[in-house]
Amino acid sequence: MTADWTEAPGTPAPALPTEPDFGTAVGEAVRVAARSPSSHNCQPWGVAWARGGEARAAAARAVAGAAPATAYAGGNGAAGGPGAPGADQYLVLALDRERRLRALPALHVEMLVSCGAYGQLLLRALGAQGWTVAGLRFAPGGLAEPSAAAWPWAAPGPADWPRTWAPLCAARLRHEAGGAVEDLRALRATAAARRTHRAPCRPRPVAPDVLDRLAAPTDTGLARDADVGVLHLTSDDDRAALAAFVARHAGRDFSHGPAWRETHSYLRFSAADAAARGDGFTLADLFGPLSRPHEWARRIALAPTTMRLLRHVGYPGLLARQLARIVRPTPALTVLSLTGTRPPTLADGVKGGARLADYWLGATAAGLVLHPISAVLQHDDLRHSLEDRFRIPGRAIFLSRLGHPGTEAAGVSGFPRSHRRPAHAPLRTI
Ligand SMILES: Cc1cc2nc3c(=O)[nH]c(=O)nc-3n(C[C@H](O)[C@H](O)[C@H](O)COP(=O)(O)O)c2cc1C
Repeated sequence: MTADWTEAPGTPAPALPTEPDFGTAVGEAVRVAARSPSSHNCQPWGVAWARGGEARAAAARAVAGAAPATAYAGGNGAAGGPGAPGADQYLVLALDRERRLRALPALHVEMLVSCGAYGQLLLRALGAQGWTVAGLRFAPGGLAEPSAAAWPWAAPGPADWPRTWAPLCAARLRHEAGGAVEDLRALRATAAARRTHRAPCRPRPVAPDVLDRLAAPTDTGLARDADVGVLHLTSDDDRAALAAFVARHAGRDFSHGPAWRETHSYLRFSAADAAARGDGFTLADLFGPLSRPHEWARRIALAPTTMRLLRHVGYPGLLARQLARIVRPTPALTVLSLTGTRPPTLADGVKGGARLADYWLGATAAGLVLHPISAVLQHDDLRHSLEDRFRIPGRAIFLSRLGHPGTEAAGVSGFPRSHRRPAHAPLRTI
């Protein structure tokens, strides 16, 4: 088990003037967190509120660092029943294996990063309502391994635990009267304004002091003690070299049959379909508004069969060069990398996602936009040469364009807003 920070032993529970309603707070938090970014907009996360005696006891033991229970009959495992005034509350963040991308091993890292980003927004929204993290522990395991089934409870776990969920971390939350750490309305507004901006950026440079602020550690919620490096490539040489790297190598991802079929399965061919499913992306999300004929042309061009046939005549390379053309004039490129444990752990991946959430929200609040370019991170040999070429410390987990949006309407440019499942869908009470 990864040792993480927990409250100091014997820390007294603060007195509470009123009974805080955790159910209302968590309901608000899932609405804020629902707008989190995720690879292919697959939303691979789940979150369990441990309310039943067994689940609560097991979660309490996990946060305290005790061995997983072999049986979990009876006991609250923590002072005060779940509904008692001043009772601590327990949440378990999970990866929903049914919703994960799986065509390439590296996509597992993107799943941890996506879940970490969601968990961070959730904890920040709870913090904004006075519920702060009093203890936190991550599941054991390496960055690229499937999560341990027997954590934080011996399989099969509490009766209501969804069988497709792999636990990532357990958190103890405590209400501090008047202890809101940030303004909920501002957080909600920034989370709603954040979006992936696939249109060109303005050529205007990003101010160095803004880049410095974005690169500073954030140290709250899941990002606490995260060993995440933030590198900004802004020089003309570096940006040209990165664009050349993308032009040369991003085609690998487009020509990889299983990876492309999986990507294609997230394409929704109408806004109504995207809204009904609540995930994936439409052509307009990717390319902006398209005329009917252009839409059909894209549909045909992106179909896995077309990709398979045209692979031999350099079509993936053409797509890579198109992507590079938008990378080249972007004023800054951001790389996030894991700089701590070697080899990195599952915990590092989740914390990396938390750091990404803070970074992306910070950029949004500063009027900036991001457009990730993951195609060159998804194959180990490409990632290694990227890390070498640009002297990236540790293991790169996220690469993105960063700049000012191309239109006055921050980040909109005629691109619609991506869809989500209902906010409460990933939340279970166990
Ligand atoms: C780890 C990660 C990797 C991503 N990689 C890409 C990418 O390579 N290309 C891209 O256009 N968007 C990428 N995205 C953005 C997602 O597609 C986007 O978050 C999702 O579709 C939801 O849209 P939104 O960010 O506008 O809310 C990535 C997001 C995450 C979290």
